Order: sequence, then C-alpha cells, then structure tokens
Amino acid sequence: MLETAMEAARQAGAVLTRYAQSGFHVEYKSVINLVTEADHAAEQCVIDCIRTQYPAHGFLAEERGRVDQEQSPYVWIIDPLDGTTNFAHGFPAYCVSIGLEYQGQSVLGVVCDPTRDELFSAIRGGGAHLNGHPIHVSQTAILDQALLVTGFAYDIRETQQNNLDHFVRFALRAQGIRRTGSAALDLCYVAAGRFDGFWEVKLNPWDMAAGTVILKEAGGQITNLRGDAHSLYGQELVASNGHIHAAMLSVIQESLRAAPPPP
Ligand code: IPD
Ligand code: CA
Ligand code: CA
Repeated sequence: MLETAMEAARQAGAVLTRYAQSGFHVEYKSVINLVTEADHAAEQCVIDCIRTQYPAHGFLAEERGRVDQEQSPYVWIIDPLDGTTNFAHGFPAYCVSIGLEYQGQSVLGVVCDPTRDELFSAIRGGGAHLNGHPIHVSQTAILDQALLVTGFAYDIRETQQNNLDHFVRFALRAQGIRRTGSAALDLCYVAAGRFDGFWEVKLNPWDMAAGTVILKEAGGQITNLRGDAHSLYGQELVASNGHIHAAMLSVIQESLRAAPPPP
C-alpha cells in the first residue's frame, strides 16, 4: 500500500507540474478560496492509481468528498493539491497529500512536493523518510530558538476564530514564524527538522491525514490546542518536535484565556 501511495503521489505531482507549465482554469469557491483544473485532475489521478490496486477501498477526497465502494475498513484521505493559492500564483510551495486510515486509525502517509522533487513517506511503526532517507524532528528546546509555522483558513474574514490572536502572541515569543500556505508540507517540515513547531485552528482531515503520520514517525508530538489527543476530524492541531510542545500549548492557553472562542 505504501508503494501504491508513493506511485500515486508521484503521478499526481507530475500532473500538477504539467498544469503549472501549460496553464489552467481557475474557479472560485468563495472570494479568496479557489480551485483549479489541476486540483481536479490530480485528484482523479490519485484515485485512479489507488483504485486499480484496491478497488474495494473507500476514499475521502477534498474535491469530491466521501466515495465508498462498499463499507471498507480502509479509507484513503486525499488532498490532491495542498497549497492551491500558491500554485495559482506560481509560488512553488504545494504538494499532493495521501493518507490512509484502517479501522479509523491513521496508518500511512505520503506527501509529494513536485517543485523540489521531495517525497515524504511514513508507515505506522516504520519511521519517516524523505526520498528514502530517514528523517527526524529537531532538538530545539526553547521558543526563543524555535522557527514556527502556521496558516489561516479561508473564512478568516468571517470568523472570530481566525488564529490572529495566537499568531500575535507567537510572533513575540518565537525566533521566527512562517506561513507557507501548505499545511501538509508544514507537518513534513516539522518532521524533517526544518520547522520546530506548527499550529493551526481550522484544518480539514485531508490537510492533516498524511503529515500527522509522517510527523509522529519522525518523533514529533501532536495534540489539539488543549494538549489532548489529536483527531483528524477535530480541525485544530499543535504539532512540534516534542521539546517545545508544552511551551506552545501554554502560549495558546494564554491567548484562549484572554479571548475565549465563541460558543
Ligand atoms: C490550505 C493550506 C493552507 C492552510 C489552509 C488550507 P488548500 O489547503 O493547507 O496552508 O492554511 O487552512 O485550507 O486549500 O491549499 O488545499
Ligand atoms: Ca489543503
Ligand atoms: Ca487542496
């Protein structure tokens, strides 16, 4: 299954590269939330690749939702293009993300960044890899030395839960903060030690399914904003190298105490 996922991610990555070179049509889901032809084509490519090998498995894919062949214990969770806004602007920070749940447990993750030729992969209990080489989280132990990353959801203009409060606090506590525009890559970059921590408040399962397996297998820690067990279906996440996790949670708790989220 890992081989199949890696091949599907590579092929869908090649689809993205072809569209990036030849041009693509853009549609708007809302004023700032867009979708391109490449999102749909890459999603079709991933599903076709996996279905050929595993015709009875289920799928949860961003652009088409849940597709079940029958009640399978296997569900592939796919973001065919994570970083669509970057892609549409020609900013090279996007990827294909493929995760697999078996009986509700995340067991496998693959993320392909076709712009850098980087393939992140992990299978539960088997460690995490980048282009076949083992990767591990950083050793950074304090926020003053930590490079953090975050993101903002498409409803940032409409909701009070817009992450700006946490962002302001972290900006004054971390060594630096980045916003790459691809949550799946953010998780992989924490796994590879390029970032020390990542948080976000409104993610979808397909943004996190692959990256969370990769990060855990690289020795990282993942919880919700309160430090409790993380769920792919719970929207929020704090993901780190483990050493700065408690410090990240306490910054978030400070800002939640100052402005509790609306009921
Ligand atoms: C988005 C990216 C971004 C995150 C957004 C996601 P998309 O996914 O992962 O980094 O901040 O919340 O929706 O739309 O590019 O697949
Ligand atoms: Ca996404
Ligand atoms: Ca997407």
